[in-house]
Amino acid sequence: MRNILMKMIDVYKIYGRNDHKDHPEVVALRGVNLEIKEGEFLSLIGPSGSGKSTLIAILGGLTKPTAGSVFFKDEDITRFNAKKLAEFRRKNVGFVFQQNNLIPRFTALENIMIPLKFARHPNPKKRALELLDAVGLLNRKNHRPNELSGGEIQRVAIAVALANDPGVLLGDEITGELDTETSQRVMDVLKQLNKDNGTTLVIVTHSPDVAKQGDRVLSIRDGHILSQYLSEKPHEIFGEIDSWGRMVLPQAIREQVGLKRYLTVRYNKDKRLIELEPADSFLEHQRVCPNCLTVSPRTTKICPYCKETFK
Ligand SMILES: Nc1ncnc2c1ncn2[C@@H]1O[C@H](COP(=O)(O)OP(=O)(O)O)[C@@H](O)[C@H]1O
Ligand SMILES: [Mg+2]
Repeated sequence: MRNILMKMIDVYKIYGRNDHKDHPEVVALRGVNLEIKEGEFLSLIGPSGSGKSTLIAILGGLTKPTAGSVFFKDEDITRFNAKKLAEFRRKNVGFVFQQNNLIPRFTALENIMIPLKFARHPNPKKRALELLDAVGLLNRKNHRPNELSGGEIQRVAIAVALANDPGVLLGDEITGELDTETSQRVMDVLKQLNKDNGTTLVIVTHSPDVAKQGDRVLSIRDGHILSQYLSEKPHEIFGEIDSWGRMVLPQAIREQVGLKRYLTVRYNKDKRLIELEPADSFLEHQRVCPNCLTVSPRTTKICPYCKETFK
């Protein structure tokens, strides 16, 4: 069993609380619970505005959540001050974004050497060449970003992000502007790194073809995790029960099995869950107390639990 590297517990992010008084608040994340194993390759997929970038920025310590905890190994990074957070990022996290990853006036090699020099690496040039080799771009070492293709730029950006040998690489729509073939070459580099070095990868994408290359795919909608599946078992979609006991059942599944509002959960005497059954018709003959939600027969006049009188 691999160790848990990162964990989010009940993470909420509300934008516009303190910063812009005249802007309405936006709830970007509403209760995200997530565990990421060491060496895992995780994809986050979801429509624009669903909270993917916010989630990944919080994971990497670029943004603070409004509520909730984010653990990296045993430490809650939401408790770090700015200095400690910067140090955490430098040591543990590599970021790659959709664009603007490289400094235009520097060559590919120089771009990779910047973070290495900053971290006082004993031999930045040698290491930078190794990294260029790892992303298959040794022959482009003296090219500047404007002399590289979009896919090559992203591969150099990956090398830059890997300079300090971070445990986790976070990528936000890094293949978003690339054609399918170029995008695949970038994905191949990532998969190779994950396999060879065990680098934990978390990538955000809106492309199902990109997403399913991860070990696990999480669907994000409206600021929470809607469902997830392992790439090797795409038909076994699983949900997660949050700390309030809530579980999101994907709409596609609810439609398939005819679940509406209520369901019966049954387990056998070995405490194995055996069935989730639609219970809407059952409830037609019942009364749900508006006060405490206790269910009793329709003819009941007083709630057996809280003694509320029914009208
Ligand atoms: N800095 C910000 N200030 C205010 N609202 C923001 C900010 N960043 C993102 N949002 C809002 O939060 C929601 C989620 O955004 P984001 O995390 O960027 O989603 P995605 O990456 O899935 O497109 C969106 O409604 C977006 O408009
Ligand atoms: Mg985004």
